[in-house]
Amino acid sequence: MNETVAAVSDQRQWDRLMAMADVGAIPGNGVNRACLTDLDRRARRLMIDWAKDIGALVSVDAAANLWLRHEGTDPHAPPVVTGSHMDTQPNGGRFDGIYGVIAGLEAVTALHDSKVRLRRPVEVVAWTNEEGGRFAPGCMGSMAWSGFRRIEEFADVHDPDGMRFGDALAAHLNAEGDLPRRLLGGQPHAYVEAHIEQGPRLENEGVDIGVVTGIQGSRWFTVTLTGDTAHAGTTPLSLRRDAVQDMVRAISALNALMHDPHDVLRFTVGRVVVEPNTSNSLANRASFTIDFRHPDKAVLLARGDAVAGVVQAAVRDADVTVEETFHALPVSFAPSVIDTVERAAAMQEYRYIRLPSGAFHDAQFVVPVCPTGMIFVPCHKGISHNPAEYSTPAQLGAGTRVLTQVMAELAA
Ligand code: GLV
Ligand code: MN
Ligand code: MN
Repeated sequence: MNETVAAVSDQRQWDRLMAMADVGAIPGNGVNRACLTDLDRRARRLMIDWAKDIGALVSVDAAANLWLRHEGTDPHAPPVVTGSHMDTQPNGGRFDGIYGVIAGLEAVTALHDSKVRLRRPVEVVAWTNEEGGRFAPGCMGSMAWSGFRRIEEFADVHDPDGMRFGDALAAHLNAEGDLPRRLLGGQPHAYVEAHIEQGPRLENEGVDIGVVTGIQGSRWFTVTLTGDTAHAGTTPLSLRRDAVQDMVRAISALNALMHDPHDVLRFTVGRVVVEPNTSNSLANRASFTIDFRHPDKAVLLARGDAVAGVVQAAVRDADVTVEETFHALPVSFAPSVIDTVERAAAMQEYRYIRLPSGAFHDAQFVVPVCPTGMIFVPCHKGISHNPAEYSTPAQLGAGTRVLTQVMAELAA
């Protein structure tokens, strides 16, 4: 195992991450690589080329999750799986998601180069549409793989340009028609995902590795208000059905609902669409998204269930609909995987702490299927979903060495 960990290359991993960062590069070192676009396909082709260099078997499933397999001595043994996602936020950075995929590839490359034979196959997966930035919600690929949702349920989700998810998926699978198909779903021996922390704790506490204990719950909603457009100069306030004014009332009421003196609860209105969006007409339509998160299931359920009623009570003039688009309960990772990650970090003499994840991840949906865990590495000032996202090659390498040891132990 030591020779495998020693075969991990910080430089090769960094070079691959920087090659990926070119695919969808935006100013300020950021990346905008939405799922199921040509850019996504270019990034996947890079992965496939690197995988083929080490003899890994490539396949794709009906949710367009991309799989790379390093065979074990017992090809029938349930595999140990690692991975993450390759799509980014519209204003994303160079590490969110792609680090976990490249780290998995680096672990498999180290296994290949060190010629260590493991009993179990090791697989690297790039899940489709984790971010939910183009098609909401996120984690579609992992939700469909785990059976939590059926992929067909997402077919009629539209992106902001009106493209259906079902059509984008079909076009993508067609473009990847040369790749072998595998069944959607599976029963791995274990799943371990590496990711940047996306928060400030590891850096502030001066540690190298976050041993992740679980993920808080998330609920997403879309609120749509329909009023009447009218002339801003001539229409008396008493006769208006102004969708924007009702949006302001609804968001104020939600701020009160979500008030938390302990600052544990997370409540975000991140996307607002107003029509016709012109300064001298009233808005006949306004819609906004709610991203609500909490580690305590009872709070997540109670306040989330109150959202629709609070919005309806706050709105005065417009018609309103509230649609829930994502519902992920908090999860705890498997003690056996947590312990394996912690032991690997300790054996390699890294400083580590245990911590929960504030961000959601595909790992959340793998939890019911097999023992699951995650490894975090620090990122500068905890900045993420931002072009300034940054971790050093050495920080990323440390996470990959721990991942490699964990994969090797679990697959032995
Ligand atoms: C993942 O991107 C999240 O929003 O937590
Ligand atoms: Mn991510
Ligand atoms: Mn993200």
